[in-house]
Amino acid sequence: MALLEIHELVKHFPITNSRTVVQAVNGVNFAVEKGETLALVGESGSGKTTIGRCVLGLIKPTAGQILFQGRRIGGKHNVRSRGLRGKMQLVFQEPAESLDPRRHIRDTLEEPLRALVISSKGRDKRIEDVIRRVGLSRKMLEQYPAELSIGQQQRVGIARAIVTQPELIVLDEPTSALDPTARAEIIDLLIELQKSLGTAYLFISHDLNTVRYISKRVAVMYLGMIVEEGTSEQIFSKPRHPYAVGLMSSVLLPNPNLNQPSVINLIGEIPSPIDLPKGCYLAGRCPLVEDRCRTKMPALREVADGHTVFCYNYEKIAASAETIDYFEQFQAEAEKILSLR
Ligand SMILES: Nc1ncnc2c1ncn2[C@@H]1O[C@H](COP(=O)(O)OP(=O)(O)OP(=O)(O)O)[C@@H](O)[C@H]1O
Ligand SMILES: [Mg+2]
Repeated sequence: MALLEIHELVKHFPITNSRTVVQAVNGVNFAVEKGETLALVGESGSGKTTIGRCVLGLIKPTAGQILFQGRRIGGKHNVRSRGLRGKMQLVFQEPAESLDPRRHIRDTLEEPLRALVISSKGRDKRIEDVIRRVGLSRKMLEQYPAELSIGQQQRVGIARAIVTQPELIVLDEPTSALDPTARAEIIDLLIELQKSLGTAYLFISHDLNTVRYISKRVAVMYLGMIVEEGTSEQIFSKPRHPYAVGLMSSVLLPNPNLNQPSVINLIGEIPSPIDLPKGCYLAGRCPLVEDRCRTKMPALREVADGHTVFCYNYEKIAASAETIDYFEQFQAEAEKILSLR
């Protein structure tokens, strides 16, 4: 049994005074194993946050099931309930907004511990342990968020998440408000914490460079569907879905000397999630489109062990020497950046 299992998750938001709905999540399946990281990547509006909120039990799915440690999430069994006893936590995108400006850091870190049966001495010990683990000094416990830098504030956000010793943390764009140095430091910290604590992460991001380093598995989302999923290695070195390749082609590595060919240019506009096309959602933008793509959604194919894709034409992508060439270059460049840090 995986730590977290998502089965056929659907989430539609009704629109006031209308019979239509926003089809935010359209039949998603995935699992997160104990201690591993799964990244959800995709453009803005692809449904990543909505999945995160469903996982935490903060919103009710339209259909499908979410199991955490084999138990169904929903109703009173959610991230805020005592029933979960701090086993699931959340780290937000904007550290400043997620911390109470009128509270000392110590109070912020103590708050989630109230759901646990733990002595006040035990609480103090945990708080001092986590502040050290996230690389902050003890004197910061007596400070207010405004006295800290944004990177330090995000460290507090992470400390607050780990203080209950959770099994799973949902991280929704945890580094996108940070500058590149603070971003790299936070990613290193998250990797290190996972090694020492064994916490699993559901890592939501549209930053592929970040995802590449932190995730064991990657799920690429497009219009509420996971169009491709695999290990980080499979997705980054042999992507098979035209959308995944398109997304990666648009990644700008922080190196102006890299001559980056555009492998797949996705043309046209993203369809509206209120009025999704009948066949493949990418059909209107895909350079490999055929008639069947416009009429029927392709079935899920397993292209390698643990590597799945929703595309009729995934073999054509694999055959493109230019693509493989490009990704080798991409990877070499990424390794170089990593070794410089
Ligand atoms: N409460 C809501 N009511 C109506 N529509 C919503 C609601 N929340 C999200 N949506 C819509 O659902 C779709 C998915 O949104 P979501 O926030 O999950 O995307 P995302 O992948 O997290 O995007 P981003 O990268 O911008 O954070 C979007 O079309 C969004 O407008
Ligand atoms: Mg989001």
